[in-house]
Amino acid sequence: MTNAIVLHELGGPDQLLWETVEVPDPGPDQVAIRHTVIGVNYIDTYMRSGLYPVGLPAVIGQQGVGVITALGANVSRFEVGDKVGYGSAPIGAYAEERVMKADPLVKVPLGISDELAAATQLRGMTAEYLLFRLYAVQPGDNVIVHAATGGTGVIMAQWARTLGARVIGTVGSPSRFDQARAAGCELVLEYQDPEFVEKVKDFTDGKLCEVVYDSVGKDTFNASLQCVKRRGLMVAYGNGSGTPDPVEVLSLARQGSVYLTRPRLDDYATTVAETEVCAGRFYEAVISGAVTPRATQTFPLREAPAAHRHLEDREQLSTPVLTVG
Ligand SMILES: NC(=O)c1ccc[n+]([C@@H]2O[C@H](COP(=O)([O-])OP(=O)(O)OC[C@H]3O[C@@H](n4cnc5c(N)ncnc54)[C@H](OP(=O)(O)O)[C@@H]3O)[C@@H](O)[C@H]2O)c1
Repeated sequence: MTNAIVLHELGGPDQLLWETVEVPDPGPDQVAIRHTVIGVNYIDTYMRSGLYPVGLPAVIGQQGVGVITALGANVSRFEVGDKVGYGSAPIGAYAEERVMKADPLVKVPLGISDELAAATQLRGMTAEYLLFRLYAVQPGDNVIVHAATGGTGVIMAQWARTLGARVIGTVGSPSRFDQARAAGCELVLEYQDPEFVEKVKDFTDGKLCEVVYDSVGKDTFNASLQCVKRRGLMVAYGNGSGTPDPVEVLSLARQGSVYLTRPRLDDYATTVAETEVCAGRFYEAVISGAVTPRATQTFPLREAPAAHRHLEDREQLSTPVLTVG
């Protein structure tokens, strides 16, 4: 048995209940892990609220760090005692101990704290696939990074800048402008700026953007699409303000034969090789100083409801994580 946070009914943070659950022995290709720190992500809140369906009761959470305590048959990449992290795993992270397939795991490099890994592996892997593999950002590209001071956005902005892009960042209020500039954004705009598209046109000398990375969704999608250059790429990867309205297919032609994608990390970390490239490139960027993720705020695992409130509170500028004592 282990302590875990269990979701029985959809709803607000108070639906996250502290209970004990069974932990099976690891089967073939699986490992048992004792978590040290567990990540908290928007996708967890979407499962809690019902936006992303999940069978109930459920132990949610897809990101964590811990120590391997037992190996199932066929697992040769790890040994008992290895410190491992994951950011693209099936749900089950909100527990002191869990059993899971070994494939999504990577060894946490020396120099990366458990807290940092648990807060950022999913967000950093997301930034990696968006900037390197979904589209390979080139020096001189004009790139919009929405939510440029958010957990994923700040990594995206810093990394795109080090790749030589001209980064336009967006934030919710002018109080965030300096933080977005510090993250490498040359131009910072509010999401709701009525001259948003005009300002992007001016900044890019009328060329518009090679790629727009939109995690805000409903509030920004239409303006984002108008900022994509001919044959450029619109990447709608999140729902911070709600899911975007349905898209009229002809609008993509009118904008200049632009491409639209709605990607998920799971589809860019489908094999051990992809996962290792994705997480490895992110951790190298942190170790080299190219990327400095946001500060973390710790909550004991049993206080998962408070961690969800922290994540959903737009005044907060730190990333919540759940600690296991
Ligand atoms: N598709 C994928 O592979 C993938 C992977 C990771 C994350 N995501 C998605 O990306 C989004 C951001 O995730 P994150 O982990 O970076 O979250 P986060 O650290 O909590 O940041 C959320 C950001 O969204 C901004 N925001 C804009 N409008 C908002 C609203 N109405 N409510 C709340 N926040 C709003 C917030 O800043 P301001 O208040 O300053 O605007 C903040 O910068 C989520 O939708 C998440 O599901 C997708």
